[in-house]
Amino acid sequence: MKRIIIITGAGKGIGKSIAIAFAKAAKTQRDFNPLLILVSRTVSDLESVAIECRSYGAEAEIMQTDIADIAQIERLVKTTLERHSTIDCLVNNAGVGRFKPLAELTEEDFDYTMATNLKGTFFLTQKVFSVMEKKRSGHIFFITSTAAEMAFKSSSIYSMSKFGQKGLVETMRLYAKECNVRITNVMPGAVYTPMWGDVQEAMKSVMMMPEDISSGIVNAYLLPQRTSVEELVFRPVCGDINE
Ligand SMILES: NC(=O)c1ccc[n+]([C@@H]2O[C@H](COP(=O)([O-])OP(=O)(O)OC[C@H]3O[C@@H](n4cnc5c(N)ncnc54)[C@H](OP(=O)(O)O)[C@@H]3O)[C@@H](O)[C@H]2O)c1
Repeated sequence: MKRIIIITGAGKGIGKSIAIAFAKAAKTQRDFNPLLILVSRTVSDLESVAIECRSYGAEAEIMQTDIADIAQIERLVKTTLERHSTIDCLVNNAGVGRFKPLAELTEEDFDYTMATNLKGTFFLTQKVFSVMEKKRSGHIFFITSTAAEMAFKSSSIYSMSKFGQKGLVETMRLYAKECNVRITNVMPGAVYTPMWGDVQEAMKSVMMMPEDISSGIVNAYLLPQRTSVEELVFRPVCGDINE
């Protein structure tokens, strides 16, 4: 059966890896036929991820969307439903971070971070959940962070947004359990992705890689519908990197 899976932030880093992991599962799992809707603001990134996904036999479409803009979220959901009639899985992965000491953070840093991590994640979840609620099935992943529970000095605004996402996760569980929808909170520690910018080799060597996270997400999705993996926590084996 075809599975309509929306992945936000699918152009780079963890989201790209999640898209490729779902696509690879199309090759190895009998009866798993994903149609991946790849979402981010940069079309060229999405095009190259779509080509890679198709090379594994999965269908992939790209939808350029800035989730900080509610009109664009509405267009994403409307177009997906017009084309495919349903949505089976949403991976809320798109996220941004501005990492600076407290005194250097600006109003623009605050608004930029909250617009994607909180406003965008909330409204996309709200609209997709109403589809899943009606059909009484579906799975929503939230890629939050260990920073959703633990503070780091350079991450004040980012942590606020991630603690906020965790609040949304817990609220969504209350709604989801009434209609057979699965909610998974994915909390990674440091993963080597473009989000970190230039990283010294010594630090890179102790970070996780995106594929370490994405395989767990696909495995959670492929479990029988009766079982919900509520939380996945990933940390570098040596513990958190306190940057
Ligand atoms: N890397 C880590 O150590 C780490 C650890 C824990 C949690 N996380 C979380 O994991 C998620 C992915 O992080 P990452 O490290 O893979 O980041 P990344 O490499 O910077 O990739 C982020 C992706 O999100 C997209 N994106 C950002 N803002 C968007 C928006 N407003 N609308 C649509 N797409 C948007 C980006 O594409 P465009 O810029 O082209 O839109 C990009 O494809 C984030 O939520 C992050 O907070 C990361």
